Order: sequence, then structure tokens, then C-alpha cells
Amino acid sequence: MSVDLSAQDVERFRETIADCLGLQFEDAKTGFLADVLGGRLVATNKDCAGYLNYVNFERPMTEFAALANELTVPETYFFRNIEQFHAFSERVVPERMKERSGNNQLQILSAGCASGEEAYTLAILLREVLEPGWKASVLAVDLNPSALQKAERGRFSSWSLRETPLAAQHRWFKHDGRDIVLDGEIKSAVRFEQRNLAEDDRDLWGDEQYDVVFCRNVMMYFTPERARALIERITRSLRPNGFLFLGHAETLRGVTQAFHLCHTHGTFYYQRRTEDDRSLSALSPLTPRASRESTPLAQFVEGADTWVEAIRAASERVQQLVDEVPSPGAARGALDITSAPHRVNHGEALVLLREERFEEALDVLGTLPLDSADDPDVLLLRAVLLTHTGLLSTAEEVCGRLLKFDELSASAHYVLALCRESAGDLSGAVEHDRIAVYLDPSFAMPRLHLGLLARRSNDSVAMRRELSQAITLLEHEDASRLLLFGGGFGRDALIELCHAEMRDRAPS
Ligand SMILES: C[S@@+](CC[C@H](N)C(=O)[O-])C[C@H]1O[C@@H](n2cnc3c(N)ncnc32)[C@H](O)[C@@H]1O
Repeated sequence: MSVDLSAQDVERFRETIADCLGLQFEDAKTGFLADVLGGRLVATNKDCAGYLNYVNFERPMTEFAALANELTVPETYFFRNIEQFHAFSERVVPERMKERSGNNQLQILSAGCASGEEAYTLAILLREVLEPGWKASVLAVDLNPSALQKAERGRFSSWSLRETPLAAQHRWFKHDGRDIVLDGEIKSAVRFEQRNLAEDDRDLWGDEQYDVVFCRNVMMYFTPERARALIERITRSLRPNGFLFLGHAETLRGVTQAFHLCHTHGTFYYQRRTEDDRSLSALSPLTPRASRESTPLAQFVEGADTWVEAIRAASERVQQLVDEVPSPGAARGALDITSAPHRVNHGEALVLLREERFEEALDVLGTLPLDSADDPDVLLLRAVLLTHTGLLSTAEEVCGRLLKFDELSASAHYVLALCRESAGDLSGAVEHDRIAVYLDPSFAMPRLHLGLLARRSNDSVAMRRELSQAITLLEHEDASRLLLFGGGFGRDALIELCHAEMRDRAPS
């Protein structure tokens, strides 16, 4: 039976899904949503208005589950993003055991567990690393009933084990016909429950009840409001110093300041701050190298030892500024000058930055009242100006202050990468660039910088990969970020720089 639906019906359905399940669908998916809505109207024998009222006002779990079956993506596998599990076994569990000694119990949540592979992986690792006398409970929740049924059966295809280390395969699985069956002990270590992560469910989100939460590849499908609300609940339900693992494409940047960012085992994850925890990672001082050489664009990078020097060289080339640099009042994104109480001075400093009058810009920032001098936007601008004037150790200190207010500032990490490079600490530079890229995947400059660092290490594969990404991102890079971080170059000049680098290093 076909159902006639108007664009308005589908739009109301989209809003209902966002509200009830948290899920966000782009405009390109309206045809798919119309099909799902049509199917649900037939299945429930309701007209569109009646159906939407039913879902919105009665909020029936059975219908939410049916919708989840149609609308969610239960893709998962054992040991997915294995580095995160290394971090879990080697850092997180030992740290939690230290913190919870005396109680000898850990509580772990897998939120959005799909068919259970993530939760079972955690159970396997806990079984392997927990010391005798310790217990752990793993609770795994999802809205999709078919996924949960599959989880409870504990039977998987070899595809689900594609990243599972052989030792774990031999120890915890056995073949049964075409299926692979999970060991009974591991199976019974996980409890599955059907829950809606878009709702504030007090049982699930009790205060400080989990040591570790895995909520990977869930938030990326949520509307920003629902994602934020979910993170608030996770924060509330994690013990202080407890850990949160998100998917690779998900960050807490701009969402909350309640966590420290952790970067170990080649992966990122978060640790909940304690109330009085305001510590900063120690930042070592460094000695700036002064060079004010001016070089033509083609040798822009060749002629400069470091990117910071290149920026300084570039800053002397006023003619390279592109027309698109915004007026100070239009600057947004990295630096929202209109939101600050010290708007006038701040704007003035930006004008001076645009005109490459860096020392005067610093003087202007120096006249700000003490309370606004520690504003994150002002700190970032100060750090950038300091790199331009060669005061890199001070720039590093200022970045440290900025990270105290906003530990997840991609911009601060990028400026730190420049400072580290200048100090000759290339691995530190790469580390900070990688953090910046993780925190803000749309930020072009750390990609460009990683490309140039790779060039310095003669790694042409990495250089091409990073510069190609930088070119793509530069096309859409925020104009205020180009002003702040472009070293005097505009979008077109930076893109040309990437192309020139790749041409120069093309295999002959
Ligand atoms: C891509 S899977 C992630 C599985 C696993 N965490 C991983 O990363 O391998 C996303 C899961 O989130 C679940 N999900 C989406 N919206 C949900 C909601 N409102 N409540 C509970 N689960 C939800 C989906 O049903 C799906 O199983």
C-alpha cells in the first residue's frame, strides 16, 4: 500500500525523530525518511497526524524500537579501533583499580552497543587484566531490539572478528558451523538492556556510577542538542577521574570542559576532571630562533628552517595578503570578537594583525583590563602575535594559559605545534598538530603543517597525504582562521603552496 505524504509530513517526522531518538537526518535523506514513515503508518494502521501525535505524546518504547530498527546503523565489530582497547587495558583499568582499591569493583557502560561486540571486547579484556579479587560489571545498552537480540545470542560471523587478535580468537571463541560462538563466561559477564540514549533515564544515568563509559559512533548521528545532553548525562554518571571513549570522528570540543583529553597508545579519549582539578600539562620553555629572511613564494618553505620562520618571512610580504581577509567586525569561528566585552581593543588588535603590525597589536592587547586579558580569544590572539614576533617561549606559556581555560582548543595546540617545531622538537610538533586535527578535523593549518613536517623528515607519502587534505580543507577554511594562522598568506596562496610542495617532491 502506498501512502501519500507531503513535504511537511516528512519534515514533522524528521523533527519527531530528532526529538524522540536524538537522530539527525540531512536534507538528502528525506526520500528515505518518507519511505520509513510510510512503512510505519501501514504497520500501525494510523494516518500521519495520528501517528506523529502517538509518537510525540505517548512516547511508546515499542514504536521507538521499531523506528530504531529502521533508522539506526548497528555497524560494529570486536576490537574496533584496537588502540582504544590497548589504552583501556594498559592505562585505564590499572588507573581505575588504583583509585577503587578497597572497593575492588569496576562498573563499565557500553552506550549504543549495537550487537554487543564492543561490550564483549571489554569483558574479554577485563577478564585478562583484572587482578584476582576484583570484579567488573559491563552494562551494554541500545535502542535497536534486533541488534540486542543478536548480542544476546553470542553468535557471530567471522566478519565480526576481522580485527580480533588471534590469541583472543583462540581463547574466547569456537567455531560452530558457519558461526563463531563466544565463550560462555564472557557472554555471562555482560548485561544487555534496551534503553533510549536520547532520554534522561535516571536508572541508567545515576550520579557517579561508572568507572568507564564507551559511547562510540553514537553521538555522530545525534543532533547537536541531543549530543550535548547525552554528554551531560555521561559526565554526571562517571566517577571523577573516570574515562570516556568516543568514536574517532567524535570530539568534546565545544561541548564541555569537564574532561581532560588523553592521548596515549596512538588514540584519543577523555578523563573526567575532579572538582579541584585545574592542573596543566607542564610546558617546557624554548629558545626562539630569529630569522627575518624574505623569500619568494615558490621557495617560501624551502628558504625557511621552520614553519614559524616561514610565517615570519611571509609576514614581511604584505603584497601576498589576499583580498578576502575579512574586516575585523566579520571575524568569526576561531575568534569571535563580537562576544567579548573588550570588543574595541580586540578588534583593533585584529586590524593591526591584518596589517602585520604585530608589536603594536601586542601593545594594544597589553592595554586590556586584567580580567579580559585572560579571555580565551585574547589569549589566542596574543599567542599568535607572539609567534609572529619570535617570542616563542612566551607564546607557549600563553597557550598553556589558554589550555587551562579550554583544554580542547585546537587553535592552541596548533600554535604549540609551531612553537615545538621552532624548538627543534619535531615529535612534539607532530603530537600537537595531531591533537589539533583530532579536535577539529576541519582545521586546515595543522594538516598543512604536518605535511611540511613530513617533508622535513623525507616522508613523501605522509607529506602528500597531509597536503592533499590541507588543500581540500583550505577551500572551506574559515576566513578568520586564515587571517590568524595563515602567516600573511590567503587561501589561494596557501593552496598554491601545497601544490608547489607536492610538485617539487613528485617522484621522477
Ligand atoms: C554505529 S553503532 C555503534 C556500535 C559501537 N558502539 C561501535 O562503535 O562499534 C550505533 C548504535 O547506536 C544506537 N543508537 C542510536 N540512537 C540511539 C538511541 N537514541 N538510544 C540508544 N541507542 C541508540 C544504534 O541503534 C546503533 O546500534
